[in-house]
Amino acid sequence: MNPEEQKKAAAVAALDYIEDGMKVGLGTGSTANHFIDALGARVKAGLNVVCVPTSIASEERARALGIPLATLEEEPELDVTVDGADEILPEGLVLIKGGGGALTREKIVASSSRKMVVIADASKHMTAETFGKFPLPVEILPFGARATVLKIRAAIEALGMSGELKIRQKDGADFVTDNGGLIVDCHLGHIVTPEKLADALIAIPGVVEQGLFVGIASVALVAGEDGVQTLTA
Ligand code: 5RP
Repeated sequence: MNPEEQKKAAAVAALDYIEDGMKVGLGTGSTANHFIDALGARVKAGLNVVCVPTSIASEERARALGIPLATLEEEPELDVTVDGADEILPEGLVLIKGGGGALTREKIVASSSRKMVVIADASKHMTAETFGKFPLPVEILPFGARATVLKIRAAIEALGMSGELKIRQKDGADFVTDNGGLIVDCHLGHIVTPEKLADALIAIPGVVEQGLFVGIASVALVAGEDGVQTLTA
């Protein structure tokens, strides 16, 4: 299987976690899109679910497929959320998320679900030695952005890490999230103590959310050359 086929295989495997009548959180990104498409086919065939999307892009995709949608205001307690990840650390199922800039809504929706099922291709499966290669996304308010970035840098350095911090750009301008926020991509190379880093970042005024998901995911379905492997927290 090539990486795209692996993403699709993991997404299809996640259908096993969906039952009739469930309230389902829909993630964001290319792997989550495969899940939305697969779920859309099941809905067309008669499956009854109500879904809460984690981004405008996922909302539009699901709506086009005829998937019944609700907001988290309408359905504040969900059965399961299915979402992709940028990196998965098997010990504790710690994730890096936010490559698509949707980390804040993704974390709110996943943490409002009884279960979070992560779907991914094998390239996302890390070890303690490799975790943190993907630049860690941190969503911040535009107000005082430079001051917030200085505080993020200080928090990272206080934990013995370092690296370039870049405000994400798109089409020659700052990338703006669905929440009107900015994304700071923290190129750390290696994250040794994700729990401590998560705690330090979220304590900074101006930080809306950070992309480390600690203690949220319950299952990860990781597709590789030989099929789909199930990791549990
Ligand atoms: C979006 C995310 C995505 O789940 C993550 O970036 C993985 O994306 P993809 O499935 O396209 O590799 O966190 O904010």
